Amino acid sequence: MSSRDRGGRRARLGRSPLYRGMTVGALLTMVAAWMLPRLVSAETDPYTTIAPKSDRADDIQFLYKIVFWLALLVFIGVQMVIVWTVLRFRRRGDSDERPVQVHGNKTLEIAWTIIPAVILVAIFIPTVQVMFDADRDVEKGDYVVDVYGKQWWWEVNYARPEALADVWTANDIYIPVDRSVTFQLHTTNVIHSFYVPQLSGTMDLIPGHTNVIKVTANEPGMYYGECKEFCGTSHAYMRFKVIAVPQDQFDNYIAGWRQGANSQAAALVENGDVDALPGALNLCLSCHRVGGVPKTSSGTVLPDNPDQRGLLGGDADGVTYGPNLSMLACRTALAAGILPNDEEHLRNWLHYPGGVKPGNYMATQIKEGTLPPEQIDLIVAYLKTLQPEGGCPEITGVNADDVIQLNGGVPVPAQASEPRESAAATRRGVGYLS
Ligand code: CUA
Repeated sequence: MSSRDRGGRRARLGRSPLYRGMTVGALLTMVAAWMLPRLVSAETDPYTTIAPKSDRADDIQFLYKIVFWLALLVFIGVQMVIVWTVLRFRRRGDSDERPVQVHGNKTLEIAWTIIPAVILVAIFIPTVQVMFDADRDVEKGDYVVDVYGKQWWWEVNYARPEALADVWTANDIYIPVDRSVTFQLHTTNVIHSFYVPQLSGTMDLIPGHTNVIKVTANEPGMYYGECKEFCGTSHAYMRFKVIAVPQDQFDNYIAGWRQGANSQAAALVENGDVDALPGALNLCLSCHRVGGVPKTSSGTVLPDNPDQRGLLGGDADGVTYGPNLSMLACRTALAAGILPNDEEHLRNWLHYPGGVKPGNYMATQIKEGTLPPEQIDLIVAYLKTLQPEGGCPEITGVNADDVIQLNGGVPVPAQASEPRESAAATRRGVGYLS
């Protein structure tokens, strides 16, 4: 065979539909190879939707996979037909010949009606099954937690077991791992939406109606959540976390909450009474409470107002309660998830709340500089004592590397602390206002 013959064969091979199809296939494979590692790293994003850590999120992932693979099949099928058609029926050489004109093709039309119908049925049946599964016994969780959407934060009360009913907190929702938890979702202002991607789908909080979802976290960890329904100026700053801990740590958390301030508060309150609040907090007490600390500095016993807390959002009727501050030093963020809980950010927040979180209610009471620096010093020193004597309950597992707590959750003398490095928080997008 002469070299000219070989060259001619190579040229013919280069033009064959099979050869070109393979080229396109190789290109698509390269694109897929480029994308896959990026998809895998998406699993470690705190708001990832592809790393489920609960039964409910597993079910959603299962549906997602069905849709994904079917869509991929359709995509590849359609692309192959397009490529084949383009190559097979392309204009060749200088031919001016018009292709055969076709009008209608019964076989094709029946096929492209039936195939999508089959695909939709294949998606519809498991979807309905998962929906019914999600609703089954939704109100019968081992724990029942009332969650109230505020503008713009989350108030939390443990409704059952009844022994926990006195516990009110905000933005960090502790639950025991491997126990089913029913979240009852309320709002007295506008519609919000409760979304913790690694644990559940979204569920709206609707005025005048209680929505319910049930979740069982299968692994300890700190799961990021956010409001997913536009609800006003600081909607984007309405974040929270569901923190799943082993049962003994959960019990520690409840005990710590009830304790109020630790013994270091004695140096900051009048008469060394750790059950009283320092005078520096008097303005704060028109909206905030500290569980386990029933008295103001002057000895006035604070009303508990369980009927008002939670239900009166303030947005509707002017009565506003801010978050309960118990265990504030153990919170994993400030201002509903937008600032790392370190001393520097706490000072910024108290100095100028409206600059940190536009439109928030505290900003209507505390303008830039309303609190003089000395008062901020006292408030911060006191807030640091709002943690259990032995430090905060340990948060382990998923996303635990991100945990930032005031003083790292460990009691140290008030004057000795430096602002903590908040690189992890910045990486997670909570530190951009630093
Ligand atoms: Cu609440 Cu968006």
